Amino acid sequence: MRRRVGGLARAQAAAPRKSRDPSWDFRTADTKRYTHGFHIYPAMMIPQVAARILDEFGQNASLVFDPFCGTGTSLVEASLRGLRAIGTDINPLARLIAKVKTTPLDLQRLDEALQAFQASLLAARFGTRRVSPNIPRLKNLDYWFKRETQHRLGVIKELVDGIADPDIRDFFKVAFSETVREVSLTRNGEFKLYRMMEAQIRKFHPDVEATILSKLARNRRGMEEYLQARPRDASVHVLDFNTVQGIPASVLPRQSVDLVLTSPPYGDSRTTVAYGQFSRLSMQWLGLGEHGDIDRLCMGGGRRKIAAFGCKPLDEVLERLAEIDEKRASEVAAFYADYARSIEHVAEVVKPRGIVAYVVGNRRVKGMEIPNDEITKSLFEQHGFVHLRTIIRAIPNKRMPRKNSPTNIRGQKEATMNYEYIVVLAKAAC
Ligand SMILES: C[S@@+](CC[C@H](N)C(=O)[O-])C[C@H]1O[C@@H](n2cnc3c(N)ncnc32)[C@H](O)[C@@H]1O
Repeated sequence: MRRRVGGLARAQAAAPRKSRDPSWDFRTADTKRYTHGFHIYPAMMIPQVAARILDEFGQNASLVFDPFCGTGTSLVEASLRGLRAIGTDINPLARLIAKVKTTPLDLQRLDEALQAFQASLLAARFGTRRVSPNIPRLKNLDYWFKRETQHRLGVIKELVDGIADPDIRDFFKVAFSETVREVSLTRNGEFKLYRMMEAQIRKFHPDVEATILSKLARNRRGMEEYLQARPRDASVHVLDFNTVQGIPASVLPRQSVDLVLTSPPYGDSRTTVAYGQFSRLSMQWLGLGEHGDIDRLCMGGGRRKIAAFGCKPLDEVLERLAEIDEKRASEVAAFYADYARSIEHVAEVVKPRGIVAYVVGNRRVKGMEIPNDEITKSLFEQHGFVHLRTIIRAIPNKRMPRKNSPTNIRGQKEATMNYEYIVVLAKAAC
């Protein structure tokens, strides 16, 4: 018997449940509008996907929750619609970026701070003002930064730390974080830390001051556009709880959330996206804690044991994987043990008839596709949710030299694409 989920499920019933829909690809969309372009981050959700989910599935929503908010793409879009949004992430750098992207600033005060900062920076650069550089004592600093760059970053850090207003200071910290990465000796365009070749290093003389000033100017323009569009009644809170361990009832009581909108990790941090490694240099310069903790806290970072999940697509794939490589199977199982617990906690805070929308990727392990979309659907179904739709979108710019079938239907091949799955379910009314 089908559970009751109301009008939305009926409206969706006519469409095929799982289908490829190119109108969700947003191939030529500008993904950097408003505050979205403040800072790069691995595996960011594109704003157009968050926006369309909110518009199509969140018409009556007032409280939106993102349990893996990263740099806050979903929170920015929710706030642009005047909603209340709560996000959480274990990565302090991601939280800082998400907070800055969603905190309205007084533009006049920001401009005053920008002018004062620029004047001090130039005065320090040309020796008319003495600023003692604040350089963190780190192992490997010389490996990642030239001595001159360290000094110039240290001066900037000292000036940023001296900004009195905490929200404006955080705005500067975000530009500083991206600058740290860009002027370091890491290879450009890679999320993991790889050092440049010696020949490249010899020719590399980054203009540290120009780098941060251009980021500040870009982010100021983004903030202005955001302020013009953000309704006054929007509210955003970026928190640091880990949904695997539980969701504090003081933050989100049971059955309080209208819409969960998120893109979770699709595997453990060691073998998929290394969020800790990506954040390391920025966190060290900003004094945000130990990057190693992030990879440990990320789902699948700790335990390794194979358990039966009572989730058919997961149990099947684990069984097949264990036949090829037991150790890899237990690593994948450790990730899903955490993922399942997180889903259990998220399911509890959703209102009856509330919606969850998970944007997931299907990774390959040992040549075997892990059907993350089917697993996500099945895990929510265990908690009384009804599947509404899975939308398959191509991820532009990530063309792979293979043919695959996004729907897993034999014969339905689409060439050289990577896909993402937007899995939408509704909680049963009772
Ligand atoms: C795909 S990213 C989210 C990106 C985000 N949608 C954006 O646009 O920036 C997944 C995030 O999950 C976070 N994460 C991993 N394990 C977590 C956990 N157990 N609890 C909370 N966050 C976690 C990672 O730090 C990472 O920021």
